[in-house]
Amino acid sequence: MATIHVDGNDYEVEDSDNLLHACLSLGLDIPYFCWHPAMGSVGACRQCAVKQYKDADDDRGMLVMSCMAPVKDDAYISIDDEEAKTFRQTVIEWLMVNHPHDCPVCEEGGHCHLQDMTVMTGHDRRRYRFRKRTHRNQNLGPFIAHEMNRCITCYRCTRFYQDYAGGEDLGAFGAHDNVYFGRVTDGTLESEFSGNLTEVCPTGVFTDQTHSDHYTRKWDLQFAPSVCHQCASGCNISPGERYGDIRRIENRYNGDVNGYFLCDRGRFGYGYVNRKDRPTRPESRDEMGIISPLEVDEALDRAADTLRAARRVIGIGSPRASLESNHGLRQMVGDANFSTGIEAGELARIQRMEALNREAGLATPSLREIEQCDAILVLGEDLIQSAARVALSVRQAVRSKGAELGEARGIPEWNAEAVKTIAQDAGHPLFVVTPDVTKLDGIATYVGRLAPDDIARLGFAVAHALDSTAPTVDGLDAATSQWVERIADALLAAKKPLVIAGESLGSMAILEAAGNIARALGRRQRPDAGLTLVRREANSVGLGLLGGESLDWALAQLETGDADGVVILENDLYTRLPASRVDDALDRATAVVVVDHQRTPTWERAGVALPAGTFAESDGTLVSLEGRAQRFYQVFDPSYLRPDTRIRESWRWLHALHATLDRQPVETILLDDLTQAVAEEVPIFAPLHQNTPEAMFRIHGLKLAREPHRYSGRTAMRADLNVNEPRAPVDLDTPFAFSMEGYAGYQEPRREVAFAWAPGWNSPQAWNKFQDEVGGHLRAGDPGKRLFLAPNAGITAGGGDYCTEIPAAFTPRHGEWQVIDLPQLFGGDEMSRRAEPIRERMATPQVALSEADAARLGIVAGETVSVALDGASLTLPVRLSAGLPQGVIGLPSGTIQEITGALTPGVTRWGRLTPEASGRRASVEEGRP
Ligand code: SF4
Ligand code: SF4
Ligand code: FES
Repeated sequence: MATIHVDGNDYEVEDSDNLLHACLSLGLDIPYFCWHPAMGSVGACRQCAVKQYKDADDDRGMLVMSCMAPVKDDAYISIDDEEAKTFRQTVIEWLMVNHPHDCPVCEEGGHCHLQDMTVMTGHDRRRYRFRKRTHRNQNLGPFIAHEMNRCITCYRCTRFYQDYAGGEDLGAFGAHDNVYFGRVTDGTLESEFSGNLTEVCPTGVFTDQTHSDHYTRKWDLQFAPSVCHQCASGCNISPGERYGDIRRIENRYNGDVNGYFLCDRGRFGYGYVNRKDRPTRPESRDEMGIISPLEVDEALDRAADTLRAARRVIGIGSPRASLESNHGLRQMVGDANFSTGIEAGELARIQRMEALNREAGLATPSLREIEQCDAILVLGEDLIQSAARVALSVRQAVRSKGAELGEARGIPEWNAEAVKTIAQDAGHPLFVVTPDVTKLDGIATYVGRLAPDDIARLGFAVAHALDSTAPTVDGLDAATSQWVERIADALLAAKKPLVIAGESLGSMAILEAAGNIARALGRRQRPDAGLTLVRREANSVGLGLLGGESLDWALAQLETGDADGVVILENDLYTRLPASRVDDALDRATAVVVVDHQRTPTWERAGVALPAGTFAESDGTLVSLEGRAQRFYQVFDPSYLRPDTRIRESWRWLHALHATLDRQPVETILLDDLTQAVAEEVPIFAPLHQNTPEAMFRIHGLKLAREPHRYSGRTAMRADLNVNEPRAPVDLDTPFAFSMEGYAGYQEPRREVAFAWAPGWNSPQAWNKFQDEVGGHLRAGDPGKRLFLAPNAGITAGGGDYCTEIPAAFTPRHGEWQVIDLPQLFGGDEMSRRAEPIRERMATPQVALSEADAARLGIVAGETVSVALDGASLTLPVRLSAGLPQGVIGLPSGTIQEITGALTPGVTRWGRLTPEASGRRASVEEGRP
């Protein structure tokens, strides 16, 4: 620690910080642009000048850039010094010379860091009277709008895009005062993290194109703290609503999880909330298929009557629904009749991952902790596609070698450009073993391209190399054996090694191999090592912990007649098992009740269908892949603006249906009661009540505001319905108010922050004010409660027996290919693929074929082939893959579903390939080995 003296006041600060970081962490305001808490300092903008004095007697001092000046004990500085103030004002005047002053039509206006800093420095007169420099804008695709004239040349965008996120298609072009930030030519930004440019850029150069289509100023949006539902990573989000539509999603800072950044699926995949074809009223369907809208009581009575008439009713839950909703369903049908709604193979793997997390002896690091790992082995996961935010953390872990090298030379981590220069291409070791190319390959020490069983074998061999009591793997070739040794050595040499595996390839053997490595590391006394197991859906982990039968079991109950009534919660069964099987089971049921927020094929099979809220219209708890239980809060009440809507939270529907079934009056239920019930019934959920402020939480006697205090237009919002403005909806379930009337400040610590705002800080940089130190944790603690044990929390390292079931080496078959599922960030998730901008970003489905196989068969890139699988077939163009092993073909996730009717990858599927071009079939047949 060090003592610094700022304008006559003494403060204790971290001596490893720079002055800007230290002062902002103290709550002192210094304007800045190029510095970013997650990216460090480059000293480019000259905006953060302060006066620094030699000692207490120095009355002249000198101007320094506070972001480039290290904290020194007994340092004297002044932020208020006139020369420093004038300097900062002058700098912003220079920056504004070419800035268009178009705030009224700029979509950044109202949450713009440049606006905030301009006001902060007191620059309020435009003296420059001449032509401004202008640029041509680019079409950067469906996510990002581009208005280059607003650029102030801070270089944050390229530093984020290239250095932090590894993108290659955005750069700085030009020189002097004419630098252009964009692509070489128009075209969609390739990075999966491009949306972060909208928050990283301090001006309106990069803005959210999806927001632009239904634009609303920040102060006119209603927000709630929420959690992304588009994969299992558990990123925290701040969705903004106006007129019953989600208008945009911004990052919600969580110092343990996503920090400042989201992936593009999470940020831009919200369109399914706004779809006009969503069901908003209950419906019944008769035997002729005629649909009738129902009122709420009517629907409950109708559903209860049909379910009562059934001999046995089962419930099918969902890994995209909250714990509370799943628990409500289980309560209604009874433990013995509850299915998780997950296909049997996937459920077995989820349960195995849960067991490995519990028994293998390694903790699951948070996303932030992953950034501190210094050797990482990835087995079978294309992380950018399956858990993008995890991939971004892995990238930072590799890059952190630069900070280590810098530290050895006395260069602090925040000195970004110096650290980058020292690091050059150095990185912590990363080993990526997958069937096909991944976007992490470029920073990997070793890239292995293997079939799933061979990936598992390599993993088992690494475990053996770490601990000779682990089972051996016979028959590895010399090159692979050499890499096995290198990987084991790197993991052992690291302070925080990490093993990552997951669900993508549908291989239990890969999970077991990762488990063996975890045990081996534990037995080699590496308690700081980590094990991250990637699940597919937002609440896959929660459902695994809650327990229940598989979807296959549920369908079997209906097929055999053991059950004839079913209630299906937020689950399109047709995405999980072949359509014929689902049809057969549902045809036999006499009562089918569906609760969902989308018109899925399963919804269309319901006798009674009840319209549920999406994440934006409900609240509940999800458990992320790091075992963090997190609550998401309702953003808006849909019935306020659309009185004819009957959308309810799923758990509320289920509670009411349960009471109606029992012929009891429907009493009010509160979310806290349900969460408490989950916590009491399942031991691992016992800490859930520590997860969130309860509904009665108040600050200074006030609820928490969902709307900024400048929110406008409420009185006119319903004017088309009635000039009398009704009271804002009352939220009994949470401490948040559906209005601006409530606490919206930053002074009182709180974990659940709907939107970041502080006086003078309207942009996302306002998160500074909520943190214990800038870029650290929220002052009240980061949201969420870890259910798996944190590192060094007393878990027994190396527990459990080694798995001995090592698969045989993969052998290509004659005339058949092993078909594997290649996860897709855009299009691989059932809900976000309903959002139009995500659909635009989805790649054209192609079949990936190894170059060697293609050469042998005489197939060229782009040629169409027919892929036959499980008795069905699909015609697709070929993509040649330099890495894919011979005998394996890859299909983008979702494509297997199109062929076989089921989304979930099977353990091993074999398919046939036939070129479509006439006359080719014979030569291919001849060309087969
Ligand atoms: S585009 Fe934005 S982030 Fe990039 S240099 Fe210009 S102002 Fe900075
Ligand atoms: S990584 Fe997953 S949870 Fe995070 S923003 Fe992307 S889709 Fe959402
Ligand atoms: S923030 Fe210090 S020079 Fe830009």
